[in-house]
Amino acid sequence: MLKVDQSSPLVMASVAWTFNLANGTVIPILTSAVETITAPEYINRTKFDSITGSLELSSLTLDDTGLYEVMMIPPWGHPLPGECNLQVQVRVSGVTVTPNTTELLEFSSSVRISCHVSTGTSLSYLWMNGSSEITVSSDRVQVGDGGTSLTILNVTRYDRGPYTCNVSNLISTQESAPLTLHPIYGPVSIQIYVQVDQVQIGQVLHLSCRAESTPPADFTWMNGMNEEIGSGADFQKTATLLDSGEYTCLAVNSITKLELRAVQKAISNVELKTNDTVFVEFRDSAVFTCSAKGSSPSFLWMNGSSMVTVGNWVQIGAGGSTLTILNMTRYDQGPLTCNVSNSVSNFILPSPNISDFLLGSDLNVSCSAQSNPHAQLKWAFQGDRLTTTGPELKLHSVSEKDSGLYSCLAYNNVTQLYSNITKSINIGRNLCNLCICISI
Ligand SMILES: *[C@@H]1O[C@H](CO)[C@@H](O)[C@H](O)[C@H]1NC(C)=O
Ligand SMILES: *[C@@H]1O[C@H](CO)[C@@H](O)[C@H](O)[C@H]1NC(C)=O
Ligand SMILES: *[C@@H]1O[C@H](CO)[C@@H](O)[C@H](O)[C@H]1NC(C)=O
Ligand SMILES: *[C@@H]1O[C@H](CO)[C@@H](O)[C@H](O)[C@H]1NC(C)=O
Ligand SMILES: *[C@@H]1O[C@H](CO)[C@@H](O)[C@H](O)[C@H]1NC(C)=O
Ligand SMILES: *[C@@H]1O[C@H](CO)[C@@H](O)[C@H](O)[C@H]1NC(C)=O
Ligand SMILES: *[C@@H]1O[C@H](CO)[C@@H](O)[C@H](O)[C@H]1NC(C)=O
Ligand SMILES: *[C@@H]1O[C@H](CO)[C@@H](O)[C@H](O)[C@H]1NC(C)=O
Ligand SMILES: *[C@@H]1O[C@H](CO)[C@@H](O)[C@H](O)[C@H]1NC(C)=O
Ligand SMILES: *[C@@H]1O[C@H](CO)[C@@H](O)[C@H](O)[C@H]1NC(C)=O
Ligand SMILES: *[C@@H]1O[C@H](CO)[C@@H](O)[C@H](O)[C@H]1NC(C)=O
Ligand SMILES: *[C@@H]1O[C@H](CO)[C@@H](O)[C@H](O)[C@H]1NC(C)=O
Repeated sequence: MLKVDQSSPLVMASVAWTFNLANGTVIPILTSAVETITAPEYINRTKFDSITGSLELSSLTLDDTGLYEVMMIPPWGHPLPGECNLQVQVRVSGVTVTPNTTELLEFSSSVRISCHVSTGTSLSYLWMNGSSEITVSSDRVQVGDGGTSLTILNVTRYDRGPYTCNVSNLISTQESAPLTLHPIYGPVSIQIYVQVDQVQIGQVLHLSCRAESTPPADFTWMNGMNEEIGSGADFQKTATLLDSGEYTCLAVNSITKLELRAVQKAISNVELKTNDTVFVEFRDSAVFTCSAKGSSPSFLWMNGSSMVTVGNWVQIGAGGSTLTILNMTRYDQGPLTCNVSNSVSNFILPSPNISDFLLGSDLNVSCSAQSNPHAQLKWAFQGDRLTTTGPELKLHSVSEKDSGLYSCLAYNNVTQLYSNITKSINIGRNLCNLCICISI
């Protein structure tokens, strides 16, 4: 509605309103002297106040934009001219965004998104990527054509959007519906998830495979012999004796035909070794190494029924697979166990019984006696005297027949007293045994 007010209290002798088009054509609207004459096209949408000379124009259209002039002639004095520039604004409506293509391949496709409006004048455009404004144009992202287009070169998977075009003018603002792009990429980041920790025969094994991909990847499952055993992201089967414990998930992007696979292997070939075979108490360090085949094994060390606690003398390293005991004592007999597990299997391997001695190793058994003068020390095995004398009995390359009762005989040649002590020594077959020197 337009209202021009020549705020004069005078009753004018005559008033004339005209509308001046840009091309110079002057359209008379109204003249008022003795009587008021309104041009027919304005009759139904003008109100004229003969006292103030003001004109009110309603039902405006875009065509009403332009310059309005008035000439008022008072009963006496000079004519009073006036003018008014009218800018008719139209509300923004029908904002839509359209991409020039929807087939986008990551790193190789470019897209141009255009913003259209059905109505609206003096428009300004704002592009949004999610909730953030796209402000500066970069090498890759350009806003052009007076703000009406957004060009993204070499789209990436992160350019999904959603994109909206926000169009506004002085009197209104409207936002388009969001546009989400789906650049084709992948599969990447494949992962197999397993529902249970340990699978027993007869139990149902639930495996799920996830991979990032657009369009979503097609999944195929294979066993250890590369035979297809299922399809779909989720796979389940009853565990049987014949299962090799190896499952492969193959993800394929149906458009790019790119493939990615993940293998889930049960733990196997578990071994527990030490770096040495014979340890002397309070002197030697031992490194226990637990190794296994299988997918992402994790290691847990147990000392008897409790978890090994790391401290000054006990360290766990190499991703949990090694246990170092810096100062072996007889109390470290544990028994130590290495618990290897992954999502499809779990193995517990006991360390060798470290109270036994290793087959084939050299063994030093020592003996001491409180005596003055020093006692003469002699040795016996299973009650039979040995030729060895002195505080140390050295056994070379021991075998199982060396297991038995060892006696140390102490003789004081002044008091003529005999003393003996007997110790059982067990030579075992274990792969890695610890020898802890005894004193008798
Ligand atoms: C000026 O424009 C009006 C409306 O667009 C048209 O009717 C008229 O003929 C034009 N006059 C001249 C002189 O071009
Ligand atoms: C003005 O309005 C009246 C009644 O609504 C109608 O009869 C007449 O035709 C209109 N005149 C013009 C010029 O539109
Ligand atoms: C879409 O626009 C981009 C950028 O202008 C251009 O590189 C691409 O070829 C266009 N795609 C199609 C299908 O027209
Ligand atoms: C788009 O990718 C092509 C080919 O990989 C490369 O030559 C070009 O420089 C890239 N453009 C931009 C803006 O990154
Ligand atoms: C859109 O925003 C995401 C982050 O939210 C960004 O990674 C991506 O590059 C942006 N794309 C454009 C075209 O602005
Ligand atoms: C659209 O832009 C206008 C003007 O910049 C702003 O006031 C309005 O909040 C914007 N709308 C949205 C939804 O961002
Ligand atoms: C075993 O490892 C410990 C600690 O690293 C080391 O002190 C010791 O000498 C090693 N034993 C052998 C036989 O290498
Ligand atoms: C080994 O530990 C014992 C007691 O735990 C301690 O008395 C001895 O000093 C330690 N030996 C070394 C070489 O640190
Ligand atoms: C194992 O436990 C015993 C006590 O039960 C403790 O004396 C010994 O130090 C522990 N050894 C290790 C390696 O944790
Ligand atoms: C071995 O480790 C797994 C996984 O941490 C655990 O579930 C299982 O109870 C452990 N077994 C023993 C005997 O500690
Ligand atoms: C050791 O002493 C016991 C008695 O204390 C005796 O019966 C045994 O024969 C002795 N052994 C040897 C080898 O002298
Ligand atoms: C007694 O033993 C000591 C040392 O073992 C030796 O020096 C000494 O000669 C011996 N005496 C006799 C009487 O055998």
